[in-house]
Amino acid sequence: MGIKSKDIISAVDLTREDVEEILSQAEVMLGHLERKKRLNKLQGKILATLFFEPSTRTRLSFESAMTRLGGSVIGFSGTEGTSVQKGETLTDTVKNIEKYCDCIVMRNPYEGSARLVSQAVDVPVINGGDGSNQHPTQALLDLLTIKVEKGLKKLKVALCGDLKYGRTVHSLIYLLPMFGIDVSLVSPKALSMPGWIMEDIEGKYGISPEIYESMDDVISWVDVLYVTRIQKERFPDPNEYERVAGSYSVDNRLLKKAKHDMMILHPLPRVNEIKPEVDDTPYARYFKQSFYGVSLRMALLDLLMGTGGSD
Ligand code: CP
Repeated sequence: MGIKSKDIISAVDLTREDVEEILSQAEVMLGHLERKKRLNKLQGKILATLFFEPSTRTRLSFESAMTRLGGSVIGFSGTEGTSVQKGETLTDTVKNIEKYCDCIVMRNPYEGSARLVSQAVDVPVINGGDGSNQHPTQALLDLLTIKVEKGLKKLKVALCGDLKYGRTVHSLIYLLPMFGIDVSLVSPKALSMPGWIMEDIEGKYGISPEIYESMDDVISWVDVLYVTRIQKERFPDPNEYERVAGSYSVDNRLLKKAKHDMMILHPLPRVNEIKPEVDDTPYARYFKQSFYGVSLRMALLDLLMGTGGSD
């Protein structure tokens, strides 16, 4: 049936067939991007990007993707200048905007807000991040990066850092086991993966990821080190943040023990959890990962609003 006109709200909703369809189309788009081929597949279509929270990569890569497909973009970044400032509700806001566009991408601080919006409108809705909950398109581009750089095979991936509040890992943990990829979790105890996600993963895939507290414990055998920022903005108590701030970082000392073909991914932005000295090593792929985001988002927009296919 494919994903045409579907909403992309959570990685939990995606089947392996959906993910394979998206990745396969993203590889086609990557080829077009690398050849700088102009496409007009979404000419006449309009994407609305509604960002109630800050973003650099997600918003701009969606806008770049839509533009590269020949479509147009409307939207806002921050609610200043919108009628949200006058007290308009989220559902009233999107019920108007859906009349102006063919697809909505939204980032919002409230968990469940993307699902709420998808139930209020008829156009496809893409979740660009809802609080600490989900960031499915980031997880899809992470998987695309692994596929292009290493192939989807029996790899060992360690998800590291803020597993409590990080929405990218809350999505990625559902996609990796679909392809037989072994997942380990590395975090300070205070930032561990929520228990309900661990239970859900066990119920869905029959796996129980190994848990570690230091990247030193995994660095010698992982194929992919997926590092995340401590999500300072999600902590209800600033003291809770201060207790874990700066508690882990990747540097060249750590990498001395890594496999020669290990790669480091990070959804970005980073603060200090990967030292800049790492950027010049062959392990660093996070900027390339961000580039793959454009092709992944081109694929999604084409599959949701266009025809898919190879040209
Ligand atoms: N990875 C990611 O979501 O980055 P932005 O917050 O810059 O969109």
